[in-house]
Amino acid sequence: MMAQPHEAMPAGTGPRAGATLRLDAISKRFGSVTAVNRVSLEIPAGSFVSLLGPSGSGKTTTLNMIAGFLRPDEGELYFDGRPVANVAPNKRDIGMVFQSYALFPHMTVYDNVAFPLRARGGLDGAAIDRRVREQLEMVRLADFGERFPKQLSGGQRQRVAMARAVVARPSVLLLDEPLGALDKNLRDQLQGEIKKIHRSVGSTFVYVTHDQSEALNLSDLVVVMREGRIEQASDPRTIYQAPETPFVAEFMGGANLLPATVASCSAAVLVLDLHMGGRVLAPASGSKPAEGEEVSLLVRPEDVLIAEKPPADPEVMSLSCSVLDVAYFGDTIRLSLDASGTILTARVPARGSAGLSAGQQVLFCWRQGSARVLRRRRYKP
Ligand SMILES: Nc1ncnc2c1ncn2[C@@H]1O[C@H](COP(=O)(O)OP(=O)(O)OP(=O)(O)O)[C@@H](O)[C@H]1O
Ligand SMILES: [Mg+2]
Repeated sequence: MMAQPHEAMPAGTGPRAGATLRLDAISKRFGSVTAVNRVSLEIPAGSFVSLLGPSGSGKTTTLNMIAGFLRPDEGELYFDGRPVANVAPNKRDIGMVFQSYALFPHMTVYDNVAFPLRARGGLDGAAIDRRVREQLEMVRLADFGERFPKQLSGGQRQRVAMARAVVARPSVLLLDEPLGALDKNLRDQLQGEIKKIHRSVGSTFVYVTHDQSEALNLSDLVVVMREGRIEQASDPRTIYQAPETPFVAEFMGGANLLPATVASCSAAVLVLDLHMGGRVLAPASGSKPAEGEEVSLLVRPEDVLIAEKPPADPEVMSLSCSVLDVAYFGDTIRLSLDASGTILTARVPARGSAGLSAGQQVLFCWRQGSARVLRRRRYKP
């Protein structure tokens, strides 16, 4: 197909490779608070990275340093290998989306989305019109161009904000809890749209959230932050299935963490004395603890098997406990159990467990290989 003269591809309007970001030991202090503490991270070009962590863990501060709104007290940031310390925010080729939509209230949806293209210059009216219409189509608001922001629902406004942020195809898009103000159903729906937008624009996305399932669903890389530091940065499966610390295990969903002392360790198997009583075997994965070390044994609720009789299989570990509560969720039930004063959680298929009720004595079982030994993290001062 022949390109129309005014449609000759202007720089930066088609899908493009996003920038590679490198954070090299960046820190930020506010008075006596160290909001970000020597954070180092490599973000591959075009990837989707989530910064996840409790309130006050330094997510927004990190994002603001990437954007250039804040300057690190120490360390350096690189975009595609170039240091950006002295590059102003508007020269970093980034787009931003916040929890509050920050649309221009006096402009129509169309003009809001056209704004970054007009501000940047270099495109004629017809090319801008084509880009804006394409972008509105992508966020399913093709018929909303003439409306003003106040005439839209929350979800629609957030889609306009997304469209405005990516229309100029920035090499990096920074999103700070963009779905934070929306209800659960809308969040789920917009997650799907954000994924699609990421695929079609190709920018590197850095997404701040404190919603675990959102981070798992969207990201190539999940970065769990705690008190200004990175606790773990891994792909979603690893961060859920192989958390490195008790903090990450608990933060990423239901976790039974059984405190234990290492009695002995061989190549493949650890023998643990549970503080609640009982000796169990556990797989030796990751970095190996020493004999006598205090560790936590992680058993995910969905890996628990409930039995009445002691299991014959030596691979299956068991603890006696009593049922405290049975919560019904249709497909599964969640059991709260008391094992010598430690409260445990199990999630088992509802089918076949109709007989379980509070007060009953049962065995809390798991396959040795499904558990994981977590060491405590020690930070360098
Ligand atoms: N401008 C500021 N002045 C003083 N302290 C600040 C400032 N900005 C952030 N902080 C502090 O730095 C720490 C990290 O804040 P930050 O906003 O990065 O957290 P967050 O992870 O984004 O939290 P949330 O999930 O609540 O948005 C907090 O203790 C916060 O109080
Ligand atoms: Mg924040």
